[in-house]
Amino acid sequence: MSVDISLSVNGQAVRRAVAPQRLLITLLREDLGLTGTHPGCDTAQCGACTVLLDGAAVKSCNVLAVQADGASVTTVEGLAPADGPLHPMQRAFGQHHALQCGYCTPGMVMRAVAMDREGVPAEPGAVCHALSGNLCRCTGYYGIVKAACQGLREMRDGREGGA
Ligand code: FES
Ligand code: FES
Repeated sequence: MSVDISLSVNGQAVRRAVAPQRLLITLLREDLGLTGTHPGCDTAQCGACTVLLDGAAVKSCNVLAVQADGASVTTVEGLAPADGPLHPMQRAFGQHHALQCGYCTPGMVMRAVAMDREGVPAEPGAVCHALSGNLCRCTGYYGIVKAACQGLREMRDGREGGA
């Protein structure tokens, strides 16, 4: 048995017939080739698989593909054009050396981008709290938190500057 679903992924219309138990992460990685979304724990604890579902951060190992029917999904590949400038949050992660192995990084970046819409203040305490569902085994978090704060400030300043 399969279910027809239609969704937008990084601005592209996608139609697929999927098994009801197929996970969103599997749809993204195996069906659509978007391997920037990383599997880590497969039990909704590490956050490496975080994507945006209608703008909200979700752990895609914990969402069924059918639950994304009709929704708009953004993965790390969709944050910036392939040949264009990086998203401010990506740039901030680079500037603050907020990664070592990089495995957690796409999930960290997507979680940090979602903080903008959530109104998380761009200060370390609030960002640490909001990042508590994303685990990094390499960095000690110092650079990640600094990067998320800077990225949030730049996202907000960019809108004010463009208004
Ligand atoms: S793989 Fe989804 S939270 Fe760890
Ligand atoms: S940079 Fe290696 S797990 Fe975070």
